Amino acid sequence: MSASGPPAQATKRAAELRTEIGDHDRAYYVDDDPRIGDDAYDALLDELRTLEAEHPELLTADSPTQRVAGGTRPSDRFVQVRHLEPMLSLGNARGADEFRAWEQRLHNRLRSLDIAPGELRFVSEPKIDGIAISLLYENGEFVRGATRGDGTIGEDVTHNLRTIEAIPPAIDDPPTKIEVRGEIYFPRGAFAELNEQRASEGLSTFANPRNATAGTIRQLDPEITASRPLSIWCYGTGAREGIEFATHSEELEWLRSHGFKVQGDVGEHETADEIVERCQWWEQRRESLDFEIDGCVVKVDQRGLWRELGVTGREPRWAVAWKFPPITATTRLNKVVWNVGRTGRLLPFAMLEPVHVGGVTVSTATLHNEEDLARKDAREGDEVVVTRAGDVIPQVIAPLIQRREGRRLRRAKPPKKCPACGTETIKPEDSVWTICPNRRGCPGQNFQLVKHFRGAMDIEGLGEKNAMRFLDQGLIGDPASIYDLSAERVAELDGFGETSANALIVEIERSKRSPFGRVLYALGLPGIGYVNANAIAEHFGSMDALLAADADAITEVEGIGPILAEQLREELADEAVLELIDRLRERGLRFELSAAERRAESGPLEGKTFVLTGTLPELSRDEATRMIRRAGGKVTGSVSKNTDYLVAGDSPGTKLAKAEEVGTEILDEDGLRAVLAG
Ligand code: IVH
Repeated sequence: MSASGPPAQATKRAAELRTEIGDHDRAYYVDDDPRIGDDAYDALLDELRTLEAEHPELLTADSPTQRVAGGTRPSDRFVQVRHLEPMLSLGNARGADEFRAWEQRLHNRLRSLDIAPGELRFVSEPKIDGIAISLLYENGEFVRGATRGDGTIGEDVTHNLRTIEAIPPAIDDPPTKIEVRGEIYFPRGAFAELNEQRASEGLSTFANPRNATAGTIRQLDPEITASRPLSIWCYGTGAREGIEFATHSEELEWLRSHGFKVQGDVGEHETADEIVERCQWWEQRRESLDFEIDGCVVKVDQRGLWRELGVTGREPRWAVAWKFPPITATTRLNKVVWNVGRTGRLLPFAMLEPVHVGGVTVSTATLHNEEDLARKDAREGDEVVVTRAGDVIPQVIAPLIQRREGRRLRRAKPPKKCPACGTETIKPEDSVWTICPNRRGCPGQNFQLVKHFRGAMDIEGLGEKNAMRFLDQGLIGDPASIYDLSAERVAELDGFGETSANALIVEIERSKRSPFGRVLYALGLPGIGYVNANAIAEHFGSMDALLAADADAITEVEGIGPILAEQLREELADEAVLELIDRLRERGLRFELSAAERRAESGPLEGKTFVLTGTLPELSRDEATRMIRRAGGKVTGSVSKNTDYLVAGDSPGTKLAKAEEVGTEILDEDGLRAVLAG
């Protein structure tokens, strides 16, 4: 540091960083619309912290580095609640060396406290990347649930938490009072479907499952939360009355035996080596899990030592978060390039300055769709945040607008001609999409459709590479022509012999027996993911019934809103789609439920339509739905004059009012059981 103060460049950069961090805080906490991932945010905060350490004169009282760790004031949209015991944060260890240093400090501390370290034991758990939550149970009843907020005061989101099946509404053999702590998360598979559906309805997509969880748990309308399959992993307790735990493993066991979801792979360790191995094991498994983790939490097992070791700031000395390397990075967006999707939409993707993300070099990333691109406003020449996770295609999350530094960058526009077939593109008046109208003749659209179809039908031996080769060589033209392939033609290709060609044809033939729901999904209709396709198949029973249905009737299907229903209607009126259906039908694919599937539908409640709302005392929504279906009834998403029964639990939401308005019979859980019993 010089006597004349910090260099102008450092002063300027610190100010920029504060503005940028402030903007991200607002986007995250106030608008519920985060623009960058946690790792990228942490990187900005780290840069500022380093600058302030090098030039202490730059430090201001209102700098974001001076805030209580993690979190900010809760918004006033929710009632604020004070946690009975504060929700702490965790110190970080990035990798084995930092972890060993933490463990060493722990030993030193125990020594200075005159505690014999001999018996020290540790517990390791995955660090779930979701939203921290505290659930208060009084005399066994779930009475209140709140977000972490600033650790002391959180937001009351009980109405939403009651819709989560994995949270027990009541517990047996309860203590007088207990705060159960855990992390709410959005299962990855369901997250991908949610985004797909939102994109096809013209809604903004969520950047990652964590943001989707935050957006869902902070909904004012519990019906929205109920429609999304949030879950929870519980990892501890806060305040307690009438129960004590000697060790953390005992605490986890208590949670498990009282109906809370607790990770099964919790490790118990005695040495740092074991822990290092375990954390590396988690890191390797990271991408195969159905929930996102960003590290591993290591805790001292003996709770007696927690008190002795104490807390610094908000971080306990008895636990540490081993953080995995970031899966986001910042790089330059060199060019926006356009592809044509399977339904003719032009889809942008980014050509990037190659960058290392999560152990892989990334040079292209998806920008999702035209609307998302416009909303994010990423421009050629921008510095952008890129993320990648698992086998998901890398994606551009957001541009760092401050880094434009006055440069004028142009917005990327979709091309005037289809990049695959050269047909002039159009943007229908009421649409947010530019499309290639050459639905039948465009090789680009066909390529994407075949790629989706083969993935959906999961035909062994017809991997993506082979399918593309068949397409390139003219052996197939559209998904239906896969069923015209002959073993002789395939056997002529490099890499195939008679046996492998025959085996492939057998597999292709076998795929004709795929259930109607899967075939419907394989058609690749926008917004119709696997879950939606199966719900539609089950609801209508056959393609002919679906083709005869109007948009209103389609909204009766669980999970299908009016926009998606209208879009599906339009798709099913498109000649190219109808022709594909006919061609597949001619080749023997299933366009109706099988006899076995139908049998499951006939029963005492045949023809009766149910709607579920709120939380039932004992049955989860899924259980109730299955029981109704098994008895032959139908479960739909919204109340109409065709609904026979509304099954209403706690916090029922708007469906109850609607049912009262149209005179639908209302049942509670006992009423449902009585109807089921006939
Ligand atoms: S223990 C003092 N265990 O990580 C210890 N936290 O940075 C309190 N988290 O807000 C937390 N998985 O929500 C613990 N297995 C786990 C966790 C976990 C995720 C979150 C937690 C907290 C944050 C701390």
